[in-house]
Amino acid sequence: MHDPNALRSMHLARFHADPAICVAPGRVNLIGEHTDYAEGFVMPVAINFATLAAISPRTDGKIVIWAENYGEEKTFDAAAKPIASKHWSDYPMGVVAILAGEGHTIPGFSLSIWGDVPLGSGLSSSAALEVVTALAVLSLIGADYPRPVLARLCQRVENEFVGANCGIMDQFISANGKANHALLLDCRDLSFRLAPLPADVALVIANTMVKHSIAGGDYPTRRRESEAACAIINSHRGGVPFLRDATLEDLAKWGNEMEPKSFLRAKHVISEDLRTVAASEALLRGDMKEVGRLMAEAHISYSKDFEGSCAEADLMVDLANELPGLIGARLTGGGFGGCTVNLVEQDKADAFAEELGKRYAAKTGIKPEIHICHASDGAHRIS
Ligand code: GLA
Repeated sequence: MHDPNALRSMHLARFHADPAICVAPGRVNLIGEHTDYAEGFVMPVAINFATLAAISPRTDGKIVIWAENYGEEKTFDAAAKPIASKHWSDYPMGVVAILAGEGHTIPGFSLSIWGDVPLGSGLSSSAALEVVTALAVLSLIGADYPRPVLARLCQRVENEFVGANCGIMDQFISANGKANHALLLDCRDLSFRLAPLPADVALVIANTMVKHSIAGGDYPTRRRESEAACAIINSHRGGVPFLRDATLEDLAKWGNEMEPKSFLRAKHVISEDLRTVAASEALLRGDMKEVGRLMAEAHISYSKDFEGSCAEADLMVDLANELPGLIGARLTGGGFGGCTVNLVEQDKADAFAEELGKRYAAKTGIKPEIHICHASDGAHRIS
């Protein structure tokens, strides 16, 4: 139902009020994994899977949220402080909590949400939900923020309300993406530059169907391990509050003082920053071969050093590497499952997608979902 009019009709029928409609996309990350919370570089793309929200005011002081995907409605008292309950409504109510904390008075409203970002697949369904809710609520109260600030507020929903200690990448790209472009983001100062994706290159997303969750234990464990390595470097030469500030020479000097796992995690993060900047430069000069080579290197680093992959994702990448038309393939997102991202020559994309699906199913017995996507605009109001 990627159709705002269908959502409008649904909202009208349920709440008897004409809504404002907003949309926020999911994302795929081309390169730069687990670098965002180390104040490093990432290069994601907003995709044509998105969450839509319809919002209208209420006069009874209630917040009523209908989630079409879950077929469920939840009601809250707009005057009460929201409390997290490990439920999908934590994302929209987390937005309410953070905006209220910023001094906004949030009135009662009806909100209908619908999305097609696959859940738990590493394509940032939760960021899309946060960003679209923030945009909808802000439009209701007649307030606005610059997009980078909006992204930061939505990241705080995860960090402070939901309890997931993620970085800024997902919320940032959902709020700031641009059609046909990848975005190189400096996660330190949130400056970014856009690099066009060539028209003859397709973005193929292959879902291993292995569920991933960043609220689970692996993501925070990896984060802790890499930060422990950073602390050791910082204790020697100072000025290294984040791995963004560390070098491979630092690792060579003081790596022997680190837990072996911490050393490997830091090696991934430090080298990934270098690869990400190099990949954005290659993309800007149209050197797709180099982009693909860096993606391949990034996958090996993510899998071997960061141990952020899983057997199915490694297989999906290996199978892609055998197929005609592949430019580069790697596991995308928080890790431990989810999707691979494949840059593929456009005229070979259909055959690539079909063959990849067949081979993966034959080896695993799991039927993967494979999508040929395109880079889309970031969040905006539709009506
Ligand atoms: C998840 C988090 C992001 C980022 C990636 C890994 O998507 O939400 O902040 O850390 O994992 O690159």
